[in-house]
Amino acid sequence: MKNILIIGACGQIGSELTPFLRNIYGTDHVVAADCIYPLKGDLAESGPSCKIDATNPQDIADAVKKYNIDAIYNLAAILSAKAEANPMLGWRVGVGAVLNCLEVARENHCALFTPSSIGAFGPDTPHDNTPQDTIQRPKTIYGVTKVTGELISDYYFKRFGVDTRSVRFPGLISNVTLPGGGTTDYAVDIYYAAVKEGKFTCPLKPGTFLDMMYMPDALRATVELMEADPAKLVHRNSFNITAMSFEPEMIAAEIKKHIPSFKMDYQLDELRQGIADSWPNKMDDSVARKEWGWAPKYDLQTMTVDMLEVLKKRFNK
Ligand code: SER
Repeated sequence: MKNILIIGACGQIGSELTPFLRNIYGTDHVVAADCIYPLKGDLAESGPSCKIDATNPQDIADAVKKYNIDAIYNLAAILSAKAEANPMLGWRVGVGAVLNCLEVARENHCALFTPSSIGAFGPDTPHDNTPQDTIQRPKTIYGVTKVTGELISDYYFKRFGVDTRSVRFPGLISNVTLPGGGTTDYAVDIYYAAVKEGKFTCPLKPGTFLDMMYMPDALRATVELMEADPAKLVHRNSFNITAMSFEPEMIAAEIKKHIPSFKMDYQLDELRQGIADSWPNKMDDSVARKEWGWAPKYDLQTMTVDMLEVLKKRFNK
């Protein structure tokens, strides 16, 4: 059985990917690491854990050696809007962590997964059916770090044979750990607000289409790509993947089907609106479908049913 290291295990993706991988590969084979340490609750109790500051290469190297790691999942990131407030931090974490992981992976023969994002595209990219291979001139520091991560990961694969693979995640929607400082966060916040308060103030204007995905699909995509037959992968860093594309009125209408009294108004967040406007409306993910069989299971309708059911139960509504 292979040994896996998850860096950023407490974050939005890590807190769900860790138990997901422990289920598949065995609890003792998946090490949960974060700079916030000790880990709490299930993450700490259900398997091995350690402290890693992803900007410190020695932390990563020590853990890889100690636990005899075969694959690193590098989930360290500062999301788009938050990184704009501190671009140097965005760069240090976004690029520093990838570089450190790549070097450790090269020295220790590990595979490496580092998610990219819709943020890797910019205003010059075709916004509809955004192709797999197209113009990538992002205007956010988050996007700049993601493009850098894609390029340097492909470089390490071609130059040194490091098994690097990655996807461009759309906005991820989950009911476990809240994202923080992203542009797509509204599509998570709206469900919490609908259940708890019956109303939501949307920071993006009507008509702002963005790609989105429910977390169970994102977790499955990650494992399916990492387990894919390398002979079939023409691309590596990174694959467009999407599950749905919607604008605020559409998600509000879907919620209203279950909570008829739900109300939404708008208060524009100019920073987030500017970022959202520079990102694709809808990506073309046919290359991922072809090369490793990607297919989403959840759409806006089925995701909304599940999100509301879980949150209503949690908040006794
Ligand atoms: N969810 C991220 C953000 O909004 C994009 O990948 O910043």
